[in-house]
Amino acid sequence: MRYSKIVGLGHHVPETVITNEYLSSIMDTNNEWIIERTGIQERRYIDPTKDTVANMAAKATRMALERANLTEKDIEFIVFATITPDYFFPGSGVLLQRELGLESIGALDIRNACSGFIYALSVADQFIKSGMYKTILVVGAEIQSTAIDMTTRGRNTAVIFADGAGAAILQPTDKPGILSTHLHSDGRFAEELYVRDPGSSRPREERQPEQILDTTHFKVVMNGSQVFKHAVVRFMEVINEALTANNMTKDDIDLLIPHQANLRISQFIQQKLQLPDAKVYNNIMRYGNTTAASIPIALSEAWAEGRVKDNDLICLAAFGSGFTWASALIRW
Ligand code: COA
Repeated sequence: MRYSKIVGLGHHVPETVITNEYLSSIMDTNNEWIIERTGIQERRYIDPTKDTVANMAAKATRMALERANLTEKDIEFIVFATITPDYFFPGSGVLLQRELGLESIGALDIRNACSGFIYALSVADQFIKSGMYKTILVVGAEIQSTAIDMTTRGRNTAVIFADGAGAAILQPTDKPGILSTHLHSDGRFAEELYVRDPGSSRPREERQPEQILDTTHFKVVMNGSQVFKHAVVRFMEVINEALTANNMTKDDIDLLIPHQANLRISQFIQQKLQLPDAKVYNNIMRYGNTTAASIPIALSEAWAEGRVKDNDLICLAAFGSGFTWASALIRW
């Protein structure tokens, strides 16, 4: 039987550190509130004069390739998860293909927000298992800082979201590998966490310059308490679904890497599963919520710190806009 496994991991975060103190100096918020409600101490923002989603993804990819002892030329297909592409279209996959100097390989974009990386991993896993490709690059990368409302009006999301990129290289193996992936959505809650515009269903006459500047364009709308309530339920459901599908229990997990939405959400799941600190990886304190990039950044850092070892059972889980939620169980 053919399975897929992750043979290389990489990440890139921008140099500029944005502290809670800095945010408190430009909007009505404070360090205590942010830490108590989100656990975030600092996050990274790009330099818009030189960074793009695609070039951050390329940096993460090069780290993953080096660690896997591979080169750009080995990549046969790209699956790129982002909700903040450099252009409205085309997607970021083709920009990454260009950035990596690859000729004409396929590139697919995934727009499943915080669950995007696990959706992308699942797609790549199917392509490897079917025998269609032997080396697939899976990326999650986001630039949120250029669109965040950095005034008091936007404070409930400005303190949370940030920039970064993570990459994983998948190849076939005859024993797992990726044991299973589980993907879900519930569009009834689409508007609980969303960006309305530039949406194509908006009539032309409503696209006036003052509306573009002041209202819905790139403005993240989030019903924080609804998101929190659903997240804690869906995270648990989808982790348990993965364990049940593989005849395992929570005690089999060596490391849980939850999407870095909010430290309070991660701690709630940890408590529910009664996992010790050593079995849960969080880095939201340093990077904020980087949406589709959060899991591959965390996985890459955890691996580099020696917390992801051969034969370990790794559980990835995510919840976010859509709502969408997903999990993956991986035997390393
Ligand atoms: N700084 C200071 N005060 C803030 C603030 C900020 N950055 N953001 C909101 N507030 C204020 C609100 O205005 C409100 O004030 P009021 O009581 O005077 O009206 C008060 O804090 C409580 O607001 P509320 O939205 O009820 O806070 P909360 O306890 O629900 O916490 C979140 C807000 C966003 C931290 C919380 O809902 C949350 O973590 N939700 C999940 C978000 C998430 O994970 N998103 C990513 C999903 S992938």
